[in-house]
This record gives sequence, C-alpha cells and structure tokens, in this order.
Amino acid sequence: MPTSSAEEGPHHESVLLKEALWWLRVKPGGIYVDGTVGLAGHSKAILERSSPDGFLVGFEWNEASYRLAKEKLKPFSGRYLLVRENFALLKEVLKKTGKAPVDGILLDLGLSSYLLEGSGGGFSFLRDEPLDMRMDKRLPRTAKDLVNQLSPLQLEELIRAYGEERYARRIASAICKARRQEPIRTTRQLAEIIFQAVPPKYRHGKIHPATRTFQALRIVINRELENLKKFLEDAPEVLKPGGRLVIISFHSLEDRLVKKAFKDDHRLKVLTKKPILPAPEEVLSNPRARSAKLRAAERI
Ligand SMILES: C[S@@+](CC[C@H](N)C(=O)[O-])C[C@H]1O[C@@H](n2cnc3c(N)ncnc32)[C@H](O)[C@@H]1O
Repeated sequence: MPTSSAEEGPHHESVLLKEALWWLRVKPGGIYVDGTVGLAGHSKAILERSSPDGFLVGFEWNEASYRLAKEKLKPFSGRYLLVRENFALLKEVLKKTGKAPVDGILLDLGLSSYLLEGSGGGFSFLRDEPLDMRMDKRLPRTAKDLVNQLSPLQLEELIRAYGEERYARRIASAICKARRQEPIRTTRQLAEIIFQAVPPKYRHGKIHPATRTFQALRIVINRELENLKKFLEDAPEVLKPGGRLVIISFHSLEDRLVKKAFKDDHRLKVLTKKPILPAPEEVLSNPRARSAKLRAAERI
C-alpha cells in the first residue's frame, strides 16, 4: 500500500467506502458531515454522489491533513465547508454554520496511512521519529511526556486499559527502568524497550509487541474515547428524522462505545444488528481494513 508518490502526494486507501455511502444513503441535495475527513476519500465520494447540489461539512483537526484535504476538495468549491476542529464539537460547529439538521454523519476513526507513515508524527513503531503522537499539535501532552513522567502504576494501568495488553506490568516497569538511564525520546527507543520487555515467544507473534502500547498512548494523548463519547451524545440532536449515523471503528474499545450508544439512545434505530466488515478482497488489497467495523443507525 503506497503512502506517497511524487505525482500524487500522500495517499490513503479509504476503508469500506462503498458500504459507507450505501448506509449513509447519500442523495443529491443532501447535507452531510464527515467528522474525520483525513485525505478526503469518503468526503469526495459523498460530494460526487450528492451532486449537483449536496453539501458537506468536514472536520479534520490535523493541520497537514486539513491542508491536503482542502486541495483535494477544490473541484467541489462552494459545496463544502472544511473546519480544522475536533468532531467532539460537532453540535457547536454545526449550529454556527446554520447547516443543521443534516441527512447523514460519517466517522472513519483512527489514523490515515498518511498520519501513520508519512507525517513524521511519531505514530509508528516501525519508524524512528520523535515520540509525539498528537494528531492535533494544539493538544497539550505528547507520548514523550507520558512515558517519561507517569508513575510505573499509572503507565501500567494506561497500557492495560487502553491497549488491552497482557504484559502491561512488564512493559511499564521496563520503560521506568530505561528512563532512569536517559529520557525516552523516539519511537524506535520505545519500541525496542517493549520488544525486550515481553517474553520471547510474544516477540514474533501476529502483531508487533509494541502495537498495543502505542495504541494505548495514542488513545490517551488524543482523548479519543472522550471525543467519541461526546460526539455520540450530540450527533442524534443534529440529524433530521430519517438521517443516518455511520461509524467505522478500528478497535474494540471504540466499537463497544458505538454499539452501546446506538442501542441505548431512544432517538436512534439500530440498522446493523451485527457490524459490517470489509470483504476479504478489500482486506487483501488494504491490510488497514483488517480490523474495521461499520455500524449504522437512523434518527427516529
Ligand atoms: C482514518 S482517517 C480518515 C480517512 C478518510 N475517511 C479518507 O477516506 O481519506 C481519520 C482522520 O480523522 C482525523 N481525526 C481523528 N480524530 C479526530 C477528531 N476528534 N476530530 C477531527 N479529526 C479527527 C485524523 O486526523 C485522521 O486524519
């Protein structure tokens, strides 16, 4: 999966694209929100499908992705508004734009291939980059702050709760031992500490041993679960009756939140009893789709 090329610039293969459009029931003249514009794959498809007069409000809080998306959406000038904001502010931003209520809202959570591999943001344990992991540079704390400042117990709990990592205690204690020698500054340093901390049989398993710890740090730094909770509380309020809410998630902590919020909200009817998964061909051509789950609900 290429993440960039000289002619095309950074690339991200959109996950569950056809399925998202179908569940959103995109139609000409509709008003839609893309809460996670990224490199605008879904946004572009929504604007195409809703032409000639559909409108899109897009949220993207990462500055570089926001600029790239603006470029990609140029052909749709006049039919969209892109804001560099947190989707947790959905209700507040939509009120200001006067575009609510809307016909459909999409979230495609997590990282784009660009953020993971091409942004230099310190998200990947396969690269050697400063340990940052903030999707939005306006956020106050970096991964470097957390790994160097939290107590051993706080680190262990963070890694266990948000990474669902069974070797959380060993990893936390190895991090604290290593930082007594020198501060942990890079993704490679951290990945190596984790690699050495886990039992040898876990080092060459299905996933890299640092996967879960990196996920945990990223979730906490970006307040991912808090943002999703606030969004889930507010989204039904800004949907028209019959309007659709479609969420693609990539790990069980997110999926559990979405599933429960859809089920418990009396304003919503659940459309997907079981989550929609990518077809095997999609997973083959785009490994990032592997853990994707799509859930859809309709405003009553
Ligand atoms: C998986 S990518 C989206 C890819 C996009 N659907 C596409 O097809 O190109 C997720 C994007 O959402 C952004 N994002 C994540 N959390 C966000 C939040 N709370 N508010 C705004 N943007 C967010 C990330 O910066 C990232 O660019």
